[in-house]
Amino acid sequence: MDFAYGPGRNHLFVPGPTNIPEHVIRAMNRNNENHRTPAITTLTKTLLDDVKKIFKTTSGIPFLIPTTGTGAWESALTNTLSPGDRTVSFLIGQFSLLWIEQQKRLNFKVDVVESEWGQGADLDALESKLASDKTHTIKAICIVHNETTTGVTNDLTKVRKILDKYQHPALIIVDAVSSIGALDFRMDEWGVDVVVTSSQKALSLPTGMGIVCAGPKAIEATKSATSVRSFFDWNGYLKCYNLGTYWPYTPSIQLLYGLRAALDLVFEEGFENVILRHKRLAKATRLAVEAWGLKNCCQKEEWYSASVTAIVVPPNIDSGEIVSRAWKRYNLSLGGGLNKVAGKVFRIGHVGHLNELQLLGCLAGVEMTLKDVGYPVKLGSGVAAASAYLLNNVPLIPSRI
Ligand SMILES: Cc1ncc(COP(=O)(O)O)c(C=O)c1O
Repeated sequence: MDFAYGPGRNHLFVPGPTNIPEHVIRAMNRNNENHRTPAITTLTKTLLDDVKKIFKTTSGIPFLIPTTGTGAWESALTNTLSPGDRTVSFLIGQFSLLWIEQQKRLNFKVDVVESEWGQGADLDALESKLASDKTHTIKAICIVHNETTTGVTNDLTKVRKILDKYQHPALIIVDAVSSIGALDFRMDEWGVDVVVTSSQKALSLPTGMGIVCAGPKAIEATKSATSVRSFFDWNGYLKCYNLGTYWPYTPSIQLLYGLRAALDLVFEEGFENVILRHKRLAKATRLAVEAWGLKNCCQKEEWYSASVTAIVVPPNIDSGEIVSRAWKRYNLSLGGGLNKVAGKVFRIGHVGHLNELQLLGCLAGVEMTLKDVGYPVKLGSGVAAASAYLLNNVPLIPSRI
């Protein structure tokens, strides 16, 4: 029996992996090819040029690596830092926690700056650390842009400002796994040195490609970084870029064609429209949450995420039960609460290739599930709040104007 089978489409509303558009599925449905042909070389060149647009960088160098977000973290760290290097890393949810654990395993000295889950990175703490670090022992600031556990987005312009204020040379290394392709991310303007993302989030591709973008300071840092790296060594890529062969090892041909199709969809819709669509879906979701009388896990508006909303349930309800029932009864996949917020929050991922009516279907399913688990929700209340907002805010589909 195919466990995944249910009538109709699975309403996939986890914050990654996300829906793969038909167009992308078809583009990937192809035989293997020799990755050393001019056709793949040309395709790769277009991909490297075009991914830069969604990182908003002209000076960054992208690496398309067969890995996941976790491997992309490791690639960013090992190429730029040496064992014993001091990092400042913000602990605001499960993904920042996992990244911090990775940094420790790689033998960096991590200054962990913890905030309550639901809050953004404590930038006052960063400021005092940098103010007292006169000899520049801090080599990197590691920050998750969009903490997928809590639906919190950090303002990276503030991080850059603090570093500039103290003329501190630390690298800014950013996890933008649930941001790139959904949120406005300006690598060059914000002075970010390394950014990592992965294919199964806003790009709406299968899992398996980590995308790392390294700015000039990070590329320079590789020359003195002594962390052991082999598979993830950027030099392998850089050598191939110089030779025009592009691949130090065999890429997934299917993912390359998929990425091409995914980027084409983004540019056809217009990247700025994609960003606005994510903001719109997020706002509609928050209005529904408010109408249900539930609380957003993210504690301040300035941190609201456009790609995921984590919703706090009353203490007498187990959020895991909501996730389980939504899937079993309504073919709706919601994100569960992780670690500290397990059982306490569930998450609606509004990221990737989604539209407004799909979201309304999800919200209707959440309402029914809430009722199922004994929460006294008024059926239709969230859908009404969200659709009233969307009615006035959904533009015409760009390709149909
Ligand atoms: C913000 C963030 N960082 C890192 C990861 C880890 O990525 P992966 O599961 O692709 O290794 C995730 C996964 O959800 C994430 O949301």
